[in-house]
Amino acid sequence: MQNIAWIDGTFSDLSEAKISIEDRGYLLGDGIYEVIRVYKGRPFYLDAHLQRLLRSAEAIKLELPFSVDQITKTVSELIEKSSCFEGYIYMQITRGSARRDHLFPNDAVPTMVMYVRELEPVSDLDAIEPQEGITLPDERWLNCHIKTTNLLPNLLARQKASEAGAVEAILYRQGGIVTEGTRSNVFAVIEGKVRTHPATNLILSGITREIVLDILKDLSIPVLAEAFNLQELETASEAWLTSTIMEVNPLRAVNGKPFKASAPGPVCKQLMEVFRRQITASC
Ligand code: PDD
Repeated sequence: MQNIAWIDGTFSDLSEAKISIEDRGYLLGDGIYEVIRVYKGRPFYLDAHLQRLLRSAEAIKLELPFSVDQITKTVSELIEKSSCFEGYIYMQITRGSARRDHLFPNDAVPTMVMYVRELEPVSDLDAIEPQEGITLPDERWLNCHIKTTNLLPNLLARQKASEAGAVEAILYRQGGIVTEGTRSNVFAVIEGKVRTHPATNLILSGITREIVLDILKDLSIPVLAEAFNLQELETASEAWLTSTIMEVNPLRAVNGKPFKASAPGPVCKQLMEVFRRQITASC
């Protein structure tokens, strides 16, 4: 497949795509983004991602330069032109290119960029090796529900986790309240109930998180969107991460302490299987 980019209506090869160095996304992180998975040549839960993009745009007072219908059409064109079978679409909208100023520019037109990149086809569930997480303080701002390109605290924590041999940094706020991962949502099974942080300003409510919550309800597995603390996480029977790229990703241990059930635990295993069936059904 060919990695293809699209900038404000124009397609090109990804390696040739360029934007202005005065773009406010580049200079100031003044932008929002989405990552959408492509399975078998079809975007997965595109509508839900675009609805979240609209919410992010509204939250940062950015007017989308293209309609949802136009973006949907462009996503199909990108997939077709690139012959993408397994991959992801990245889309980003910034407040445009203007002389650097903290004030919003009056005359700038938002820049919209999309590109498609290949990913390895998903591996067999049995081949997925549960990994470890570590916990780190959540040093981000208080508007984590906005999917903004300002990701520096996430990057620093993710780097620290990687250097410690962990797949993800699980972030916590005051009182040891676990919020989410640097690029994923976190679920844990605590005293027989699945728990995950509620969809407040302290987390990005993942599309995968929502799908998993629906699956749990369909399976009549007790689930609560209720925050848990570090101690509850460390003594959970199982835990996993969810994201567009990671899907449902089992954790083996946190801070060197293995979860009670051998990973993937029974609930996580079931979710992984049903999630894969959902992909087959919708793509
Ligand atoms: N990240 N929380 C954070 C902070 C995230 O960055 C992400 C996704 C999620 C999961 O959201 P979703 O299920 O909609 O992918 C939760 C994307 C994939 C990224 O930045 O690459």
